[in-house]
Amino acid sequence: MIKLIWAMDQDWLIGKDNVLPWHYKKDLAYFKEKTKGQPVLMGDMTYDSLKSYYKDKPLPFGQLYVASITDRVFHDAIKVTDIDQFLSTYKDDLFVIGGKTIYRLSLPYADQLYITFIDKSHEGNVYFPKFDLNAYHLIQEEKVDVLRFCVYEKVKS
Ligand SMILES: NC(=O)c1ccc[n+]([C@@H]2O[C@H](COP(=O)([O-])OP(=O)(O)OC[C@H]3O[C@@H](n4cnc5c(N)ncnc54)[C@H](OP(=O)(O)O)[C@@H]3O)[C@@H](O)[C@H]2O)c1
Repeated sequence: MIKLIWAMDQDWLIGKDNVLPWHYKKDLAYFKEKTKGQPVLMGDMTYDSLKSYYKDKPLPFGQLYVASITDRVFHDAIKVTDIDQFLSTYKDDLFVIGGKTIYRLSLPYADQLYITFIDKSHEGNVYFPKFDLNAYHLIQEEKVDVLRFCVYEKVKS
C-alpha cells in the first residue's frame, strides 16, 4: 500500500526553502510514530533536509528509497530513477515522505493520504500540488489544538 504523509497549512504551504516553515512538536511526534522503521520514499532534497536535521545520524526509517535523476550515490539508500516504474511494481507498504516534486509524482499511486492540516497561515515558498481531495474519503480524524490529523483512503472506482 502506498501512503503519502505530509503536513500543510491552510494555504497548502509545506516548505520554506528546504525546511519546514514551522515547528509543531505534536506533528513531529505523529510523523515519527507513523514512519518509524517503515520503508520510505523521498526526493533527494528532502533526504538532504532530514540528514541535516538528524546531524548525519542514521535516519529512523526502514529501507530508504531516494529519488534522483543525477549520478549521485546514496550509501544508505536505494536510488529510484524512475518513480512510475518503481511505484507501479512496488508490492509492500511504503510511506512517501516528500517533498513537493515527489508528492506530485506519487499521488496517482497513493492508496492512503496521511494529512496534518494546520489551521493557520505561515511564511514559506513551497506548496503542496493542487489535487482533488474528493477522490478520497476520510477514514480517521483527530483534532489537537490547531492540528487536524486526517487519514484518507482512495475512493474505489
Ligand atoms: N510539510 C511537509 O510535510 C513536508 C515533507 C517533506 C518535504 N517538505 C518540503 O518540501 C520541499 C522539498 O521539495 P522539493 O520538490 O524541492 O524536493 P524533493 O521532492 O524532496 O526532491 C526533488 C528531487 O527529486 C529528484 N527528482 C525529480 N524528478 C524526478 C523523477 N522523475 N524521478 C526521480 N527523481 C526525480 C530530483 O533530484 P536530482 O536533482 O538528484 O535528480 C529533485 O531534485 C522542502 O521545502 C521541504 O521542507 C515538506
